[in-house]
Amino acid sequence: MEVSSGIFKDRFVFDEGYKPRRLLVRDREASLLTSRYLAKLDAMAGFTDVSLIYGSIGRVGIGKTTVATYVGRSLEEVGGRKGFNFKHVYINTFGAPSLHQILSVMVDQLGMNISVRGSSALEVLKAIVDHAYLKDMFILLILDEFQSLLLSPRVSEDDLYLLMRVYEEIPSRDGVNRISYLLVASDFRVTAYMRERIPQVESQIGFRMHLKPYTSEELKVILTQRAEEGLVEGVWDDYYIELISEYFGEDKGGDGSARKAILTLRMAAELAEAEGSSVIREDHVRRALSESALSYIPLDELRALSTHELLLMLALTNVVMEKGGWATTGELMDRYEEIARYYGEQPRGHTQFHTYIKNLATMGLMDVRSSGKGVRGRTSIIRLAPEIPADRMREVLESIIMDRIKQRPVE
Ligand SMILES: Nc1ncnc2c1ncn2[C@@H]1O[C@H](COP(=O)(O)OP(=O)(O)OP(=O)(O)O)[C@@H](O)[C@H]1O
Ligand SMILES: [Mg+2]
Repeated sequence: MEVSSGIFKDRFVFDEGYKPRRLLVRDREASLLTSRYLAKLDAMAGFTDVSLIYGSIGRVGIGKTTVATYVGRSLEEVGGRKGFNFKHVYINTFGAPSLHQILSVMVDQLGMNISVRGSSALEVLKAIVDHAYLKDMFILLILDEFQSLLLSPRVSEDDLYLLMRVYEEIPSRDGVNRISYLLVASDFRVTAYMRERIPQVESQIGFRMHLKPYTSEELKVILTQRAEEGLVEGVWDDYYIELISEYFGEDKGGDGSARKAILTLRMAAELAEAEGSSVIREDHVRRALSESALSYIPLDELRALSTHELLLMLALTNVVMEKGGWATTGELMDRYEEIARYYGEQPRGHTQFHTYIKNLATMGLMDVRSSGKGVRGRTSIIRLAPEIPADRMREVLESIIMDRIKQRPVE
């Protein structure tokens, strides 16, 4: 244990790998899954359930992995109290490992003393099935980032079936199946991939759980728990936790990521610590928030834009900062021409302007939609992509544009 810094009681609490001992949010989802697996077992039809946890496209840090591993641990605890020997094995299949690698992690986590190298997958699985039989052990195999396993060219359909329908190939000596599965995937597309590659497993999924991005209320609970466990008492104020929760809460327009919220609290604490402050102050929190906002700005993409696309983005950002919401094409065109002249650039014509808009929209930097029938007929309206903070965007754009202008040959 490290020496306390005055701010942190336990720094590890803010690490990605830290798992709170009790889930305060999503606890109901976790116990629902846990009791489902237990019920399956009580029925003595063996233990061959397949369940799926998935999120939404583009939403990360919403507790999928956390819930899955929590279910694994609860099953060991709750099942243990009922006299069952449960063991969960967690494998992140990201990076698409081979079946062999997966089996070798399984063997490792089950504490089995066999050498995987030089054995066939079938032999290793046979050893696992036997091990489970001998110890009368029930295994929950958690396959995280499951979509990446399905999309991997290194894993064949046969491999997948072998792994996920072990008992078809290798019946246990007493006829009892002892391996269940908890699949974790980023979003609903996983079921389409499954239907394509392993339809028999897809049709076997007993329970599908969709996890939504966190609301600000939920984030508040999660952050308070972290603060209580990881920070020295009295160094933080509930108001700051609210500030962070509201920034990231899905209901308040944030992306609902617990990961980002926790990182921001940690950063605020680190800023306070670095300054030798005895408490976290509001300016630490605001600075931490703006740092995380900056990371939403796709710097590389912006640097790759042409000068006029940058000017157009700046025009849009300015309109958004002044009146918020959507800008009409006409408004944007006027503002763009003004800004171009201000920077000493000849504005481009309409055709070019519309091509820029199309590109920038395709890149996800702006949203474009039809205004519907208005006074002046049909037109497009445009806004800055919602995850981009306008004030930060403006600073970044201005600085890139200034760099370009400095490099401009003197006429
Ligand atoms: N309900 C919760 N209670 C406490 N901490 C949570 C909760 N949900 C998520 N976290 C924390 O937020 C971070 C991200 O959560 P997690 O890794 O489970 O998200 P994920 O949905 O699996 O993300 P990804 O899509 O990137 O895999 C972790 O540090 C985790 O401990
Ligand atoms: Mg995850």
